[in-house]
Amino acid sequence: MADVSGFQLTGTQPERYETYAAPINTPFVTALLDAVDLWPGATVLDLACGTGFTARAVAPLVGPTGRVHGADINEGMIRVAREHHPRLYPDIEFTVAPADRLPYSDGTFDAVVCQQGAQFFPDLRAALTETARVTRPGGRFAATVWAALDRQPYFRAQHRAVEEYGGPEAAENLSQAFSCTTEHLTAALGEAGYRDTAHREVTFGVLLPPLDEYARDQLSAVSWGALVAEAGGDDALARAGDLVRDQLTSCIAVDGTATVPFTATLVTATR
Ligand SMILES: C[S@@+](CC[C@H](N)C(=O)[O-])C[C@H]1O[C@@H](n2cnc3c(N)ncnc32)[C@H](O)[C@@H]1O
Repeated sequence: MADVSGFQLTGTQPERYETYAAPINTPFVTALLDAVDLWPGATVLDLACGTGFTARAVAPLVGPTGRVHGADINEGMIRVAREHHPRLYPDIEFTVAPADRLPYSDGTFDAVVCQQGAQFFPDLRAALTETARVTRPGGRFAATVWAALDRQPYFRAQHRAVEEYGGPEAAENLSQAFSCTTEHLTAALGEAGYRDTAHREVTFGVLLPPLDEYARDQLSAVSWGALVAEAGGDDALARAGDLVRDQLTSCIAVDGTATVPFTATLVTATR
């Protein structure tokens, strides 16, 4: 698997990702952008941009004199990113590209941000070396990756459900999202030539839509959910969603919504 990028979505999954990842992503995008402290006129890359949550949040911070780019290896993600492209701010240019072969000149960016992408790069050091190349000296880098799976109630419940209805390969695919340790990421940044590397944990109590449907729908929008659907179709997805909900009853309010803590590591560095 070393040369294959993780978290690959196909068919209508990128559209569903845009809808169902939003509640979980939003607070972490804010923390990530706070960490690079952008300014009007800055040129910024959203690396592994997916459907563009972070790039869209960057645009108003850099304003009409700034420039925003998003790069992702997945064509479906980039297609949806372009469809959700706002036209109010600097033009966001979304490009299909792998993290270790970026189509930008040396020193193009004032800042590169990467929200929940680094754990999926087949060669993290090569990707960060390439990121360093396209960042100007003194430019900023920030990334979030999930903290360990055993500290994530929602994903821990999902792991059990995915194992039951999708089997070990699906469970292993989920585990990859939680596989990037702080030590690994900070060491790779150092090897790629970054300095002043720092890290901290960020935890948010995230308000999720009613789990009766959301637990199934969110699962249908991630790569391990595709493996559950492959193993047992929509019925398996629905049952797995129910099993996620049933493990989280202590977090569920009377209206079915749930407030669940999610924890990520936020790593920053200077080029
Ligand atoms: C969990 S999604 C995160 C997407 C987005 N940053 C967000 O916060 O919603 C992980 C993304 O990493 C992308 N990815 C995986 N391997 C990649 C690679 N080698 N180069 C570029 N993008 C990659 C996937 O296509 C996917 O869009």
